[in-house]
Amino acid sequence: MVRGAVAPVTHVVTGTVMQAPAPGTLEVMRDAVVVVGDDGTIEAVHTAGGREAEAAVAAAGKVTRLAGSQRLLPGLVDTHIHAPQWPQLGTGLDIPLDRWLFEYTFPLEARYADTGFARNVWSRMVPALLAHGTTTAVYYGTVHEDATLALAEECASRGQRAFVGRVAMDHPEGTPAWYRDESAAAGLAASARSVEAVRSLGSPLVKPVVTPRFAPACTDDLLRALGELAAGTGAHVQTHCSESDWEHGHALARYGTTDTEALASFGLVRRGTVLAHGDHVTDPDLERIRAAGAGIAHCPLSNSYFANAVFPLRRALARGVHVGLGSDVAGGAHPGLLAQCGHAVTVSRMLEDGVDPSHPADRRGVPGSRIDALTAFHVATKGGADLLGIDAGLIAPGMSFDAFVVDCEQRPGGLDYWEGIDDEERLFEKIVRLAGPADITDVWVAGRRVSGD
Ligand code: GUN
Ligand code: FE
Repeated sequence: MVRGAVAPVTHVVTGTVMQAPAPGTLEVMRDAVVVVGDDGTIEAVHTAGGREAEAAVAAAGKVTRLAGSQRLLPGLVDTHIHAPQWPQLGTGLDIPLDRWLFEYTFPLEARYADTGFARNVWSRMVPALLAHGTTTAVYYGTVHEDATLALAEECASRGQRAFVGRVAMDHPEGTPAWYRDESAAAGLAASARSVEAVRSLGSPLVKPVVTPRFAPACTDDLLRALGELAAGTGAHVQTHCSESDWEHGHALARYGTTDTEALASFGLVRRGTVLAHGDHVTDPDLERIRAAGAGIAHCPLSNSYFANAVFPLRRALARGVHVGLGSDVAGGAHPGLLAQCGHAVTVSRMLEDGVDPSHPADRRGVPGSRIDALTAFHVATKGGADLLGIDAGLIAPGMSFDAFVVDCEQRPGGLDYWEGIDDEERLFEKIVRLAGPADITDVWVAGRRVSGD
């Protein structure tokens, strides 16, 4: 070795890995040895007991040994979350989407003109999400450039992987005068500056995302300009698409075609574009999204309040469409993606069986719609990572070490593991449905420990 050069330090984590590399598929690696390079990438995953595993432990600069009651899982990828709505989490879900935006949400988002207020919210929200195991988040910010940049800074300094978007919205009918871009040109200029500002942070974890709020809030000029901005900068895009009857109907009335088609005509349906909700997308829309390499952020809890329908997740997966999971805070009243996995299973069961008992059972639901916890977890990890094009969502060589640990030791209020009754499959289901921050003992992003007790 060259004199004075620092030897690469590897961090080795030993313990049992649980993950869902494909929908419906559980992979359990008992007492695995996960080797993480000093750049945060997983170099190797060795099976227990072999010579390679022993050598890796012996050579490691640092060893973290998980207890028998702990499980190592890939980090959760929240593909749709409205950061400024954090203070209204858990409230105001009693009215339809169009009223909810004007009566509750826009007034709160307007407050982020005060960057001090914004910083205070971000400094509480980002660690809370990390504590839930959310290692990547795709954030809507607000229209304010400073508040949005402060969010990107908070993610970079806390070590959360993030896509952060300044919200663009200029439509005089779809937005209030006190919370909108002055014009399409002003919206474009602010979004372009925001993309640059986030990039200039130089964080390998934090990226900008072009964010037209949704078609009803944007003029055609703004949508077209933002499509060009995405093409010119190569930045990701996020927007809402066919979320509700109202939004879906808006596109049909305004464009004579679906929301997906209209967004595509503006250049906004691109590789890595996150279309939030998508409950009312048609089969040709799904094909358009698949062919573009875009995807859908499935937000099961929020959809129960605002979407007027259940997103047909299984149909979308069967058609090869990228799907990630989204909390849609604060339309979804729970910040944790594990809880959202449980909701994804629940709403899929309701879609399968139907909900109105006055209809006969054989015409009440949509057969073939239900999913299991494994499929939900796959969507919340690898599904979201694939949609975004990031090397995460799986504990495997070449992936970033974005991961969290759940401790299943019996303790008051924690997971209840039953020796002799619970096998690994049942334990996995319990983790997905029941685990929360109290059970999560460690969280890493790109190899850096970012949360834990
Ligand atoms: N459509 C436009 N804006 C929003 C929002 O903030 N939340 C949800 N759920 N849908 C939207
Ligand atoms: Fe949303």
